[in-house]
Amino acid sequence: MTNKIQIMVVDDNQSTRENIRKLLELESDMDVAYEAASGEEALRKARISPPDIILMDINMPGMDGIAATEAISTEVEQSQIIVVSVQGEQEYLRRAMAAGAKDYLVKPFDGNELLECIRHIYAREQKRREKIVRVAPAKVSMGKIVTVFSTKGGVGKTTVATNLGAALGLDGKTKVGIIDLDLHFGDVALFLNIVPNTTIADLVQDIDHLDGSVLDNYMTRYKDNIRVLAAPFRPEQADSVNLNHLTTIIKEMQYNYDYIIIDTSPTFSEMMLSVLDMSDMLVVITSQDLPTLKNVRLCLEILESLNYSEDKVKVILNRAKSLGGLNVRDAEELLQRKLLTLMPSDGKTVVSAVNQGMPFIVSNPKSQIAQSLFELANFILSSRGDVKRESEPEANSNNGITAFGWMGYRAF
Ligand SMILES: Nc1ncnc2c1ncn2[C@@H]1O[C@H](COP(=O)(O)OP(=O)(O)OP(=O)(O)O)[C@@H](O)[C@H]1O
Ligand SMILES: [Mg+2]
Repeated sequence: MTNKIQIMVVDDNQSTRENIRKLLELESDMDVAYEAASGEEALRKARISPPDIILMDINMPGMDGIAATEAISTEVEQSQIIVVSVQGEQEYLRRAMAAGAKDYLVKPFDGNELLECIRHIYAREQKRREKIVRVAPAKVSMGKIVTVFSTKGGVGKTTVATNLGAALGLDGKTKVGIIDLDLHFGDVALFLNIVPNTTIADLVQDIDHLDGSVLDNYMTRYKDNIRVLAAPFRPEQADSVNLNHLTTIIKEMQYNYDYIIIDTSPTFSEMMLSVLDMSDMLVVITSQDLPTLKNVRLCLEILESLNYSEDKVKVILNRAKSLGGLNVRDAEELLQRKLLTLMPSDGKTVVSAVNQGMPFIVSNPKSQIAQSLFELANFILSSRGDVKRESEPEANSNNGITAFGWMGYRAF
């Protein structure tokens, strides 16, 4: 039979492996494809020939079951891991689930419990894959991920992310999902005057069932076509979100939204690096003061060392021409980059918009600062060929958009 569930048993104890093998091989739908006595061996074998299910012991010499689970679930998507451990290791179990395990069993367990668990996880994964196969070809293109980033706090990331999201979705049709990835102190909901009932911390509890409608249940409506996945209510809940969760969420969002705007916190954490990696475009924000410029330059150097192209990384200047700042040319020289957009300093418009709980592109669309945001939105639309305007500007609008110059954005 070819459609048997292929299983790898990982345990440093040979007799445990043999007992499990004997039990599983009595089942006509299961096949113990191979065994491994350590985390390293499991990883090596899974990379070469991924089984459907891996039964993973936790305590093993060398690479333990948690480290192996993390490595395999990141690298070998096809294999689903069920962690097996002795009683009294609840903390390990929690860590194993956070590392990407799909389920766990506590020893001693009943044979039927094991068989049922394997069949359940296998069937769920098959269903998930069928869904992906069904959904994927129906979509012409996946949602584009735009991450708003800076290594400095308070430079305007949330201001840009919320206004950009609102601008991209202002036609009432373009579907925009905003993820608040400032997991500790996110305030996207506040900027948009919406009150979430659920946040990303709730969504990760349901991650194994994630599909478009489940995702929808956890997003907060700003407009019908613009929705927000809010940051956790409390900073201590931030730790419940791991990289695997985030990758799954972002991928699902790509099936359901045209644009995914990600607001961030100013850190280069491992999670953030992965998000930057997944992004189609990074909007890096700087201001004109020397410490921020130095900081942003360092940030750009790191992004360059990650081989991100200049097309992917775009720098915008916020609070342009604010008093005491360096001039734009100096800023560009220091950063060795052309600035894509200049957003003026406009406390009156920005603060009154926040106080009204409205993006300024809505409350004051004619202001220069709103125009600069439309310009950014237009650049993003045009770089995907979705540009919407009455009259076409000169060809090659991807390059050389200068600030405050072009007021011809008419889509909205
Ligand atoms: N161009 C601007 N003119 C005037 N005020 C601005 C401008 N841009 C942002 N602000 C204000 O600066 C403050 C910080 O902006 P914002 O919260 O968007 O920054 P942030 O980078 O998201 O900060 P954090 O790192 O804390 O998340 C806010 O009070 C915002 O209203
Ligand atoms: Mg912010």
